[in-house]
This record gives sequence, structure tokens and C-alpha cells, in this order.
Amino acid sequence: MRKFDQYPSYSLSPSQCIFALKEIIKGPEYILKNYTSKTYIKYIHQFIKHQDYIVLWITFYPILFVLKSNCIEDSLKKHNVKTSFTQAFKPFLSDGLVLKNGERWKKFRKIGEMNLKTKMLSSFIPTMSKHGNTFITKLYSKTDSWVDLQKNLSLTTFNVISECAMGISTESDNLQNDAETLFSLAPDAPAYAIKRLFNPLLWPEFIYLGYCDYATSGKIKVCSTLFKHLVNKEISRQQIYYVNDIDHSDEEKEEIFLDKIRDNYLSHLVSLYIDGLNGNDDEIPIEDIEYEINNFIIAGFETVKVSVLWTLACIASEPEIQERIYREINDVLDDDGYDIEKLNQLTYLDCCVREGLRLFPPIFSTGRTSQTDGAFAGRLLPKSTEIITIIWAVHHDETIYPEPEKYDPDRFSSERVESIPSSAWIPFGFGPRTCIGYRFALCEAKLLISLIIKHFTIQTNKFYDQIDFTAVITLKPIEPMLFKFTPRGQILL
Ligand code: HEM
Repeated sequence: MRKFDQYPSYSLSPSQCIFALKEIIKGPEYILKNYTSKTYIKYIHQFIKHQDYIVLWITFYPILFVLKSNCIEDSLKKHNVKTSFTQAFKPFLSDGLVLKNGERWKKFRKIGEMNLKTKMLSSFIPTMSKHGNTFITKLYSKTDSWVDLQKNLSLTTFNVISECAMGISTESDNLQNDAETLFSLAPDAPAYAIKRLFNPLLWPEFIYLGYCDYATSGKIKVCSTLFKHLVNKEISRQQIYYVNDIDHSDEEKEEIFLDKIRDNYLSHLVSLYIDGLNGNDDEIPIEDIEYEINNFIIAGFETVKVSVLWTLACIASEPEIQERIYREINDVLDDDGYDIEKLNQLTYLDCCVREGLRLFPPIFSTGRTSQTDGAFAGRLLPKSTEIITIIWAVHHDETIYPEPEKYDPDRFSSERVESIPSSAWIPFGFGPRTCIGYRFALCEAKLLISLIIKHFTIQTNKFYDQIDFTAVITLKPIEPMLFKFTPRGQILL
């Protein structure tokens, strides 16, 4: 305990401990409802907003909460082992990149990065456009009524990442049911992880998988079966190609095979697996392919959906901002569709998306565990400390973002952006474990939002700052956000 004696800290008094115990006994649902709400978060933030960091003692267990950008180097850059709390996600996220640590993380991070390089990014734009256009067609059938976008947007962002990472989508492959299982599973995952953390009886994997309604409902199994099936199918395809292709020379085979690898992440991983089997490379365990694909899909569709929804809510609340975006779109886009250069030219939209991610970061917090004794903000940081960085708090620092509750895209304009330290805008994290799909996500969000604004004027039923949310690792609205889409050219009612 002495090791933290110089830290600003808060520990519960005996009477608060009794109160807390009484609250905890009411169950995880009650805790989640009352202590993750927007009202509660804002209430607590009032007391801690001037602190850079704070240690919260839960009986004898300290947790270091990081709240300001000046500590981000010491939290997210220095430490790259995920907090032990994230293990509660394992049944859902399996053992993919998000939860991997050490050498296995390094190896798969490198492979994943190869598939998301700028060159690859350009090749994903047509897929993003295709699914974006399907989404727009659906919106035309719902004009002038209040629409909850959740399901259609989930389907769109799922199809984009699924086709870019695995070459398949619900449109051409029989995936609709499995995809819908994933949509229903993903938003609840953080809440179930918290429930598990609160209940030590559910900590052992076999008990959790056997008795927790979330795990036993079969949905987790549907997802792991889906990924297993897809991996096996790709292995068979590549193996058949290897054995049966007698019409090509060895060089041609190599070239065609390389093209396949370049296709998508799944074919790349499978090719490495086959290389391993043939003794040409380090062997990749087949399970790791499933885990990695799982993580790309799960980390890559819900987050983008949520970020597009929040940004749309802000844009729909501010007609002047919306019109400015429209004018920019008209200047930049033509009938030839999208490419990376055009997306880069949408600079005001870029500010709008960045500001949306600041105000409503889809991932509320992220955590690390220190592996050795070290330093934090000039003080000793003991080994095995759980460090939780509250991304939302970093983004609401009024010394960096005056009027932090205001949606003001111009904060990110070229004239003003330099006053924002790079560690103060961290919706994708910071340091070696920054989101691997960061540029992919920004491209997709810009493409989808620009398509919507190009076709429609949008209204929302609630001003962005009236929307209630819960923050359980992800930041999600409590009630559906409703939008009205009026095709451009028609008069707004
Ligand atoms: C707006 C959308 C997105 C947001 C806000 C977001 C946010 C994040 C955050 C905060 C982290 C954790 C960083 C940390 O622990 O410090 C992360 C990690 C990760 N994200 Fe994203 N993400 C988004 C989109 C994507 C996409 C599209 C993909 C897939 C292509 C993806 C794949 C991953 C993976 C695999 C990791 C783990 C990386 C590692 O630990 O090395 N994310 N993301």
C-alpha cells in the first residue's frame, strides 16, 4: 500500500464500504444500470476532472485511473500488456490480437499490419462503396419516417469488414443468420464481461461457458463455429490449388498464389499456415487463424457502426455543419465514385468525424497491467498495477477542449489542430497497441457519412447532448437514435 502513498487516491470509508456492499449485493444488472449511466459518469467527473490520475482503492486492491493526456505516454506507450480484466472477454473475443500479449501478439500484429497498409487500404474502397450504396438504396425506401439505423448499419459495417478481411459477405454468401447472431452478441459483450468480473463464481472458464446464460445461449458457439468453418473452407481451397494445379509452371503458381494472399487477411493467414505445414515457414496454429479473423470482424464492425451513429447524431443536430459538409462533398465528389485521394480531400468531413470520435469515443476506456516496477508521472509504479485509461475523460479535458460538451469540428481544422497534443485525441488508443484498423475505420466512416449526406438531409429526434448513454467499455446510446432522411432536392418538413 505504501507504494502508492504519494498518489492522489480515494478509498472508501467504512460506511461507504457497507453502502457499496449493499449496492453490489443488488446484482450486476443494478450496478450496470446505475453506475455506468451518463448522469453518474458526469457526476463523478465533476470531482476528478482536475486530477491527471487517481488511485481508487477497492479494499486492498489499487486501480490507477488515468484521466489526462500528459500521462498517456506513461500508461499506453510504456505498457503493452493488456489489463487482466480483459480476460473476462475471452469467451467472446477468444485469444485474438485484442487479448494476446508478448511474442504471440508481436507476431500477429506484424501480419495484421501487412494487410492494412495504405496500399491495401485503396483496394478496400470499392468494397466499402458497394456496401455503402446498398445501404443508401435501403434508406430511400424509408424516407420521411423516423428510422432506427442500428440493424442496417451493423449489416453494412459487418459486410465491409467481412468482405475486406475474408472475401465474403451476407450478400453473396449464406451468412445472414450468423451475422445477425453476431450483431446481437457484440453490443452486450461488455456488460457480460463486467457481470463476470463481479461474480468470482463465473471466473473459471468451464463454469462460465457452462452456466452463464450469455455463453450458454449458444450464440458464442454459433460465432466460433462460423469462423472455424470459414477457415477450414479456405484451407481446403488453397490445398486443392496447391496439389491439383498442374497447368501452371512453378513460377506461375507462385505468382497466382501470391495474388490470393494479397486478396484478404484470411487467405494470407491460411497461406502462412500451409507454408508452415510444408516446412517453409514457422507453423501457425490453425486456432490462431480463427482467433485473428474473429477479432478483425468483431473489433471492426461494431465500433465503426457506433462511431458513424454518434457522428450522424451530431451532424443531424447542427444543420449548418451538415450543409458545410454537403458543399464540400459537392466540390470533391464526382460520378466516378470514391478513391483514397477523394476521401483525403474531404477535410472538413474529416474534422467532423474526428470531433464525433472525441465527444463520443466508441471505446470508453482501455487498460494495461505493468509488468515490472517502473515510473509513472515521476512516481514509482509497482509491478502488476492495473492501469485504466479513461479515453472519454482525456477527451473532455477543458484545458485542451474548451466547452468540451460542444460538438465543434473546427477544433480539428488545420489552423487549430496544432494546439491539440497527439496524446489528447485517443479514440483508437495510443502507443504500440493502437487500433490496427485505425485508418480503415476513418476511411469507412467518412465514406458512409459522405454518401448519406450526398443523398439526404438528415434530422434527428434528439439533440446530440440529450442522448443518454451507458459506458461499459464501449459507449452506447441507451435508446435507439432515430433519424429522418429527406432526399436532397425535397423541402425539409
Ligand atoms: C471507429 C472505429 C474503431 C475504434 C474507435 C477502435 C478503437 C480501438 C481501440 C481503443 C483499441 C484498443 C487500443 C488499446 O488497447 O490501447 C483498438 C484495438 C484494436 N482494433 Fe480497433 N477500433 C475501431 C475500428 C477497428 C477496425 C475497423 C478494425 C479491423 C480492421 C479494428 C481492429 C482492432 C484490433 C485487432 C485491435 C487490437 C490491436 C492490438 O492489441 O494490437 N478496429 N481499437
